[in-house]
Amino acid sequence: MIYPVTVFGDPVLRKKAVPVTKDFKDLKGFIQNMFDTMYSSDGVGLAAPQVGQAIRVFVLDTTTDEEGEPAGIVKAFINPEILEKYGDEWVMNEGCLSLPEIREDVLRPESVRIKYLDEDFKIREEIYNGFTARVIQHEYDHLEGIMFVDYLNPLKKRILKSKLIAISKGKVIPKYRIKIPGSKSN
Ligand code: NI
Repeated sequence: MIYPVTVFGDPVLRKKAVPVTKDFKDLKGFIQNMFDTMYSSDGVGLAAPQVGQAIRVFVLDTTTDEEGEPAGIVKAFINPEILEKYGDEWVMNEGCLSLPEIREDVLRPESVRIKYLDEDFKIREEIYNGFTARVIQHEYDHLEGIMFVDYLNPLKKRILKSKLIAISKGKVIPKYRIKIPGSKSN
């Protein structure tokens, strides 16, 4: 099942997401739907608040980054905790399904050490670098209510303001289904 994607202006994107408990109904099904939604909108990552759920889950597939070194991963992260960010900061022009038609340069550290639960609620701790570490940081931010436009300097924010207002009013037509902020359905 493909969910509509929440966009800038939707309060769920500004909430601090809460941990998932074992009794969450059909978590595996929810995660599968998140993957389906991500793939159908050509995303490399998707966080639960982007499908209207303020819970601590995100999925990613960084294998499409053909020049990526090291190779990417396909994975769901449940209740993740970034334990450490380190290495030189590097810049990449980022996009976000919740910010259609906006791309901006964002600086992020090279590596992350992350602890999380896998789909069987087993604790994992891993290190990621490069593009995968970047996507992890971007998706993790969504669980904290942060979007990449928050990192821009005041001048860039001012330039983007009208675009952001347009998005929040649903005056944007991406190739995937969105939920217009304030609307009951999509
Ligand atoms: Ni995003």
